[in-house]
Amino acid sequence: MIAPMKFLVFGAQGYFGQQFLERFPGSVGSTVDIANMADVARELDTHQPDVVINAAGKTGRPNIDWCEDHKLETIHSNVTGPLVLLKECGNRGIYWVHLGSGCIYSGDNDGRGFTEEDPPNFAGSFYSRTKAWIDRMLSEFTEQGILVLRLRMPFDGTPAQRSLITKLAKYGRVLDAQNSMTYLPDFFDAVTLLTEKRTTGIFNMVNEGSISPYRIMELYRQIVDPAHEFARLALDDLPEVAKAGRSTCVLSTAKLRATGVHMRPVDDAVQEALQNLSKKHEKNVK
Ligand SMILES: NC(=O)c1ccc[n+]([C@@H]2O[C@H](COP(=O)([O-])OP(=O)(O)OC[C@H]3O[C@@H](n4cnc5c(N)ncnc54)[C@H](OP(=O)(O)O)[C@@H]3O)[C@@H](O)[C@H]2O)c1
Repeated sequence: MIAPMKFLVFGAQGYFGQQFLERFPGSVGSTVDIANMADVARELDTHQPDVVINAAGKTGRPNIDWCEDHKLETIHSNVTGPLVLLKECGNRGIYWVHLGSGCIYSGDNDGRGFTEEDPPNFAGSFYSRTKAWIDRMLSEFTEQGILVLRLRMPFDGTPAQRSLITKLAKYGRVLDAQNSMTYLPDFFDAVTLLTEKRTTGIFNMVNEGSISPYRIMELYRQIVDPAHEFARLALDDLPEVAKAGRSTCVLSTAKLRATGVHMRPVDDAVQEALQNLSKKHEKNVK
């Protein structure tokens, strides 16, 4: 029987911060500035966690376009902050988990998907550039007790505002391009296994296979809301609806599978999420 782990979650008020606190009872949340060495050191010494989760970062509101006009704040949180954690957790020998992003790639790597070793090839937004910079920096130190989890387009079967399905349901035009995505129930099961084993290194934390946001909305119309209306947005037309570039990519899950951690096929995950949403939708309509 493995003893329960005490997590200290930075970025506690954010979307992922809240989810970590819910999913790992007994965790402690912190809202200190992760780029402030003294504050981070105090939190680590006060709480003495088994595992630190870095769920802090600038993701922009209403979306990553914000980062284009707030570059210093974005670097402060997405690059300087994790470097402070690298030093302060490293000094104390504390194992820590950084939430990275798969939005540092473009394409499907000739059908193979991008592995954790492939150099980033998408620099179309400032947000993605900061995520790629820190990903590369941390890759030099992962053996010192760092786990970097690369997420993409996270979704679940709840009406949470930050779930991909909720976002897509508000769009009039929906992108028709294959993407890797992260189903949160599978992600958190995988995080449990990886952190219990104190796994280190970079991992693509996406479900098997790929799907397009447009296909998800077709299924949404079949399963959740037959009255839902939307149009197709081709990849070439993406600049018409977004200021900064958006990554469209497929990641390899071979490394995750090789560690014995399995995230189900994305088609099955989308079906489950939509079935759960449908039950909530029916309740609301009644
Ligand atoms: N959600 C996604 O689609 C997605 C996909 C891939 C990767 N990720 C990564 O996952 C991490 C968490 O994302 P999220 O979706 O949970 O974002 P979020 O909802 O914006 O939460 C991030 C939280 O971090 C806080 N924060 C920002 N700068 C900070 C700093 N210097 N020190 C301490 N806290 C700070 C934010 O506070 P303020 O609001 O006050 O700035 C916010 O409460 C990010 O690193 C993001 O890049 C997210």
